[in-house]
Amino acid sequence: GILILDFGGQYNQLIARRVRECNVYCEVVPYKVSIEEVKAKNPKGIIFTGGPASVYGDNSPKCDEGILQLDIPILGICYGGQLMAEALGGKVNAATKREYGKTPLALEGNSLLLNDIPQNSICWMSHTDFIEKAPEDFIITAATEDCPVAAMENRDKKLYAVQFHPEVEHTEAGKEILKNFLYEVCGCEGKWTTENYIEEEIQNIKAIAGDKKVLCALSGGVDSSVAAVLVHKAVGDNLTCVFVDHGLLRKDEGDQVEELFKNKFKMNFIRVNAKERFLGKLAGIEEPEKKRKIIGEEFIRLFEEEAKKLGKVDYLVQGTLYPDIIESGTETASVIKSHHNVGGLPEDMEFQLIEPFKYLFKDEVRAVGTELGLPEEVVWRQPFPGPGLAVRVLGEITEEKLNIVREADAIVREEIKKAGLDRDIWQYFAVLPGIKSVGVMGDERTYSHTIGIRAITSSDAMTADWAKIPHEVLDKMSRRIVNEVDDVNRIVYDITSKPPATVEWE
Ligand code: XMP
Repeated sequence: GILILDFGGQYNQLIARRVRECNVYCEVVPYKVSIEEVKAKNPKGIIFTGGPASVYGDNSPKCDEGILQLDIPILGICYGGQLMAEALGGKVNAATKREYGKTPLALEGNSLLLNDIPQNSICWMSHTDFIEKAPEDFIITAATEDCPVAAMENRDKKLYAVQFHPEVEHTEAGKEILKNFLYEVCGCEGKWTTENYIEEEIQNIKAIAGDKKVLCALSGGVDSSVAAVLVHKAVGDNLTCVFVDHGLLRKDEGDQVEELFKNKFKMNFIRVNAKERFLGKLAGIEEPEKKRKIIGEEFIRLFEEEAKKLGKVDYLVQGTLYPDIIESGTETASVIKSHHNVGGLPEDMEFQLIEPFKYLFKDEVRAVGTELGLPEEVVWRQPFPGPGLAVRVLGEITEEKLNIVREADAIVREEIKKAGLDRDIWQYFAVLPGIKSVGVMGDERTYSHTIGIRAITSSDAMTADWAKIPHEVLDKMSRRIVNEVDDVNRIVYDITSKPPATVEWE
């Protein structure tokens, strides 16, 4: 595959995605990776990413320069390209003006990297420094008005650099350029598929886990479900899945999870029914962060108790995805809400981790799930927070309120599905704000709960837009909820985006 050296750029994940889209396997590693490790991975090619630093800065990230001499093809992007230029005797300088955004690109001379792309096109620039002078033995293959060296290459040494960002969609020929690098320069075949992945991963897990005991905390979500089935293929009955039903799940969810894993896939499946325990701990608690903490902690305690009953467990399966890894490596985002991930389990327990999707993106996990025969409802399940309905019943949680929101939520989901909108809308659910208001039903005054409908579109839940659900669909939901759910007489629709709101109400 391809090794991507991460210099901290904002588009690094995107580079990995694009490479995968070309059906080439890739891994992102920190720029500090040792040359031995690079050799051991034996990549067909290497990509140096962009990054915010200047190659002349005091603490600028630099990789082992020996990597440039390994005779492995390298593509340097932005900062990565500048690093290459500087290391090989070229000159990098601070531009008088920062070049940012869509920029006309003109090709020069004959290039393998830029082969078959239009003479003039638009590329995406985002840089302050630029390559002023290419190293002596390089040829310049493209320029922009402000960049004399927008692309350069030394075919003998298999070294290529671009100042612009081919991974960004606004670079018109971006995909072609990456394909040229992967297929023409590196000789990749573009045969990487989920089927291969499953086969390889099953072999890997077999080799690692052998006949040891493996434990999986199953939440019923896409990632842990697909991980469980994959690991089950590798280790069979040595795998035990523990599913903690905290009583904060959606309608019928617990039973569906049990049916699927215990009965359909015939896996060792332990369902821990802990509704009373959770509701007990949550009684009287109104503060959202406190609720989250209690649930997170209780979850871990329960899981530990189950694990202890099983005796010594050697491996824990986690559905960690690639974006989690890339992000945690480079960014320190401020905590807006303390997310409780079913995967984020005990620090003080002695497990080794099996993370079969450590290098996959969400859509790839879905493809794996489909390939493994998981039903569509699981593979395409909308994200559901670890603390469940607890963050959708505002303030104090009672069983009664949970029942109201659960029934209303089931109707919201049903209507979205009926309208064929379930793949377009990222998340859609009901919340119970705990407001009572006056209404009238059958000539009688009512004083009942309000249900809020929340639906958003997004690509990663970091930002989101409120979904423009057709009025007829909203109307149907509204009527049904008021008619079918006791103690509800008013429905409101949440029309805030994220930011300033968050997806969940707590
Ligand atoms: P917010 O509300 O922070 O939600 O805008 C962003 C995304 O994260 C989900 N979410 C959670 N997921 N554990 C999870 O696994 C949590 O504690 C949690 N809280 C929020 C939320 O549903 C949305 O998709």
